[in-house]
Amino acid sequence: MLWVGTSWKMNGTLASARDYASRLRDALADGAPAGVQPFIIPPATALAAVHDVLGDGSPVLLGAQNAHWADAGAWTGEISVAQAADAGAALVEIGHSERREFFAETDETVNRKVRATLGHGLRPLLCVGEPGAVFDAGGSVDHVLGQVAAALAGVGDAGRVLIAYEPIWAIGEHGREAHPEDLTDVFAALAAEYGDQVTALLYGGSVNQRNAAETLAVPGVGGLFVGRSAWQVEGYLELLRIAAGLAPVPGR
Ligand code: PGA
Repeated sequence: MLWVGTSWKMNGTLASARDYASRLRDALADGAPAGVQPFIIPPATALAAVHDVLGDGSPVLLGAQNAHWADAGAWTGEISVAQAADAGAALVEIGHSERREFFAETDETVNRKVRATLGHGLRPLLCVGEPGAVFDAGGSVDHVLGQVAAALAGVGDAGRVLIAYEPIWAIGEHGREAHPEDLTDVFAALAAEYGDQVTALLYGGSVNQRNAAETLAVPGVGGLFVGRSAWQVEGYLELLRIAAGLAPVPGR
């Protein structure tokens, strides 16, 4: 199964979210493409609306972009995992580099959020990745393995965890597109250490309709986590089609 999803980050309105969701629902009326698990991560304000539009039993899983580890309380501006679940989320994105850089997320808060998410029966989508200077110095594997180990500390069963390797130098409009050979060492290390333990290992960072297939061909890559190239529903559907063409066929 290849997991292919998008976070909309801090973009869109309720109207644009509903429009995207209704087009996606209609395009996937016969189910998700074989071998592909779609997921979308709207802003928290649109989560419930997107859930309503997709409907119960949708093949598309929904996620929250962040959630606090506490169930409830005096945490102004936060939402809890329980609230995200109540609004329709099945997964929680945790530790995106933008959260780590601009909102003081640490390995410790990431770990708390991973454990809280698992405790509520949701899937953590754990994001890890190194800055460009670490990549240039050849330190990517150590950096990424360190982040994952810290995030999963005290987690007995990581079977529901998704790990997204998102090198910071490759993310966003100022990012540099990664070449497949830039990714092989990290995915080899992640696969060796965690391949049997987690649901899937995803790649994210300037993924687009042109480089998706070659990225999915990197050994260990089990899906794509996409920003800009999936913010229009046609672009996302094209990525689902590309993944479907490469998805492992059961029994073969
Ligand atoms: P991008 O974002 O695809 O727009 O580079 C990726 C991400 O931040 O997950």
